[in-house]
Amino acid sequence: MVYKSSMKKVMASLLTVFLLIEVISCGFGFGGNNGLNMNYYLMRCPFAESVVKNIVNRALQNDPTPAAGLIRMHFHDCFVEGCDGSILIDSTKDNTAEKDSPANLSLKGYEIIDEIKEELERQCPGVVSCADVLAMAARDAVFFAGGPVYDISNGRKDGRRSKIQDTINLPSPTFNASELIRQFGKRGFSAQEMVALSGAHTLEWQGVLLSRTD
Ligand code: HEM
Ligand SMILES: *[C@@H]1O[C@H](CO)[C@@H](O)[C@H](O)[C@H]1NC(C)=O
Ligand SMILES: *[C@@H]1O[C@H](CO)[C@@H](O)[C@H](O)[C@H]1NC(C)=O
Repeated sequence: MVYKSSMKKVMASLLTVFLLIEVISCGFGFGGNNGLNMNYYLMRCPFAESVVKNIVNRALQNDPTPAAGLIRMHFHDCFVEGCDGSILIDSTKDNTAEKDSPANLSLKGYEIIDEIKEELERQCPGVVSCADVLAMAARDAVFFAGGPVYDISNGRKDGRRSKIQDTINLPSPTFNASELIRQFGKRGFSAQEMVALSGAHTLEWQGVLLSRTD
């Protein structure tokens, strides 16, 4: 009994410490934001980041235009039910997926994502999520196009739900400023961040506009 109750105490205090660490690390944005972390693949699939970077760079050197597509794909994936890879799911005869929404027009770079995923499956089967591949590929496309280098947390889980009707949650080109601010605000972005992200519409490479926003 004594043993049991002291175990309970230890477990309870461990749980408290654990929760505290979680709260602190989430609150301050380092460590495990929602279970994501910076070095997620360091032990799990050590070359994951470089595989993505190499394949993105090789593909874009060959044809830079999908740089815009990769960035937009990550955005469309995340804005609909979170960054869960659901933009990659194909439609079936019973379900029309996100990817076949009119909002999908001009999403490009699916073949690059497929190539990355294939190589990662060879190296570390079943380890690297498609959502993380999209996030890393978009990051590497930003850098390729002359943008900043930034570190991202990984550990996203892939979702199975992909429904055309959910893409109604993407911002419409007819939205006015207050509506855009509201839509991005609902997902935790400030107006300033929304404007900065919209810079993706003027992506250039060697003086040529890559983003088509017609
Ligand atoms: C602020 C609300 C946004 C609206 C209303 C919007 C709308 C659009 C529209 C209508 C297009 C043209 C699609 C086509 O020509 O087929 C487009 C293209 C694009 N969007 Fe957005 N977008 C928004 C935010 C974003 C964000 C946050 C990103 C990424 C950070 C992004 C990345 C892109 C890119 C890269 C393209 C060009 C795609 C290409 O040339 O392949 N957009 N957007
Ligand atoms: C969506 O993207 C896929 C893959 O590129 C393409 O086959 C499909 O036709 C697109 N759908 C629309 C409505 O553009
Ligand atoms: C912006 O759009 C919203 C939703 O359609 C509308 O309610 C609002 O009045 C508009 N605001 C301005 C300043 O036009």
